Amino acid sequence: DGPSVAIVGATGAVGQEFLRVITDRDFPYRSLRLLASERSAGKRLAFEDREYTVQDLAAPGAFDGVDIALFSAGGGVSRKYGPAAVASGAVVVDNSSAFRMDPDVPLVIPEVNPEAMANVRLGQGAIVANPNCSTIICLMAATPLHHHAKVLRMVVSTYQAASGAGAAAMEELKLQTKEYAFNIFSHNAPVLENGYNEEEMKMVKETRKIWNDKDVKVTATCIRVPVMRAHAESVNLQFEKPLDEDTAREILRAAPGVTIVDDRAANRFPTPLEVSDKDDVAVGRIRQDLSQDDNRGLDIFVCGDQIRKGAALNAVQIAEMLLK
Ligand code: A2P
Repeated sequence: DGPSVAIVGATGAVGQEFLRVITDRDFPYRSLRLLASERSAGKRLAFEDREYTVQDLAAPGAFDGVDIALFSAGGGVSRKYGPAAVASGAVVVDNSSAFRMDPDVPLVIPEVNPEAMANVRLGQGAIVANPNCSTIICLMAATPLHHHAKVLRMVVSTYQAASGAGAAAMEELKLQTKEYAFNIFSHNAPVLENGYNEEEMKMVKETRKIWNDKDVKVTATCIRVPVMRAHAESVNLQFEKPLDEDTAREILRAAPGVTIVDDRAANRFPTPLEVSDKDDVAVGRIRQDLSQDDNRGLDIFVCGDQIRKGAALNAVQIAEMLLK
């Protein structure tokens, strides 16, 4: 029982994580189709006591009978094959940036803006976009505070893992650790005319869309660090209403998908290693921003697994919403 599911990019870092998340959450499925490029077609993959043959995404009928297609094979692949999947009646949950800013495409973090899914139904072809990994991890912690005191301005600095650049980048980090270990560098996304790189502008634009707040001011600096699969982010928030740090801590304690790691005495705070392979986003260093008056600012430090909540878990949670 359950929907017929296709995974596009099944051999990739996120594609493989889709499978782990499906198992961990007992996601029901009637059948499963693993799709990738012709390079991988014919490859056998074991999953939940069965063996699957990876199929070529470009082969005709790749989406016949598919109810839900989880895409994570890059923006070009989504643009090329997403519409075909929709035409055959599938709901596409797309992990690429291809459709995120399309006004007709919901951009969804289930804990943050589930209402954006209101018009999406299983059996009626549609695209739902998974936000950028840094955006998801940041907004998991910032949104509960935003709902309480309204964020006017947010300043984010990221420390991003290699996983966002795919399985090959993770392998490269492993093999060439010596070259990366004593350095960090600006995110590899192309730099735009305004001096921001594309990753930074995604955080700016996606936050406005997800919060449905075109006025919120966001600025970001995105940096890659030699870490395998979890992002860290320093987030500075300026609020319309006062918000003291004890109240902020209570709000975050109650927030779904968020764990507080904030032990000042032991100097224990979130780290990328500790959140790796975990579902929850960890938040710590929760403190009043001294540079702002009347408790109108907070600083927090957030870590989240890029492949999991930043990609595969969020997409599977979206798929779960379709089953309700
Ligand atoms: P393949 O392994 O056959 O190249 P990652 O993000 O870890 O690099 O993974 C990218 C995923 O997207 C892989 O599963 C890869 O398949 C798939 N992919 C990349 N380009 C294409 C394409 N043109 N058509 C189908 N799948 C693709």
